[in-house]
Amino acid sequence: MPSNLVVQAQADGVRLITLHRPQALNALNTELLAELADELDAAAHDEHTRTVIITGNRKAFAAGADINEMAERDLVGILNDPRVAHWQRIAAFPKPLIAAVNGFALGGGCELVMCADIVIAGSDARFGQPEINLGIIPGAGGTQRLLRAVGKPLAMQLVLTGETLDARHALQAGLISEMTQPELTVERALQVARSIAQKAPLAVRLAKEALLKAQDTDLASGLRFERHAFTLLAGTADRDEGIRAFQEKRPASFIGR
Ligand code: CAA
Repeated sequence: MPSNLVVQAQADGVRLITLHRPQALNALNTELLAELADELDAAAHDEHTRTVIITGNRKAFAAGADINEMAERDLVGILNDPRVAHWQRIAAFPKPLIAAVNGFALGGGCELVMCADIVIAGSDARFGQPEINLGIIPGAGGTQRLLRAVGKPLAMQLVLTGETLDARHALQAGLISEMTQPELTVERALQVARSIAQKAPLAVRLAKEALLKAQDTDLASGLRFERHAFTLLAGTADRDEGIRAFQEKRPASFIGR
């Protein structure tokens, strides 16, 4: 049983993971990251789980890497840091991942948000990469994903000053997909997750993969990948069902084949 997470499997194919280290504003220590990576691995292999939501509490989604734990690591400890592998497993989660964010999402917390595919944030959320104030830089993808999300000038300003961005500005900048009232963040994330969970699982999976390709490949290769994925889906029972349901004017019932 994880001790830093609360995991709720919903009946409708959605798994809700709540980060639960409130005494440290959900700071991401090694144990929490390992538990999160394990939970995502389990969700990836569970055929009933279609979509996963990660959330925190009203004060903090996560206030970054655990600074007290970082203080105990010397250079050799950092070179052999087990958290690197945990982050890689989290970022490689193949199903749709939604972050439902309230309060602080700083440092590793903001990096965790950027591992998500969809980000629903309460108007009280604050995002930032304040590592520069500690004499370091983001170490879990912050420089790379933030620049891709918000562009160079804003990413530079945030990483070099450690300033934070409120939810309204994060929405304008493209760091989040939607802003809600703080008390409705998880509810709205659940609505979005349930909607995705009803779609054809193979199409959802390939759509995610194709969209992520756009971030790290050239246009010609991305278009080739999209065409291959589109063609692959032509052989699925769910494509037949989707088209038949449209013609018969009824909701489709997808089976993931
Ligand atoms: N690590 C460990 N403990 C943390 C923490 C963190 N990142 N953030 C907060 N806490 C702890 C505090 O030490 C405090 O504990 P005590 O009650 O035992 O003193 C408790 O959480 C509550 O925090 P505050 O009293 O500081 O709450 P606040 O409302 O006054 O301030 C805050 C909130 C502005 C977020 C402030 O806590 C803060 O600046 N936290 C650090 C943010 C940060 O620098 N994050 C980047 C970490 S480095 C990183 O993430 C590297 C990477 O890329 C992977």
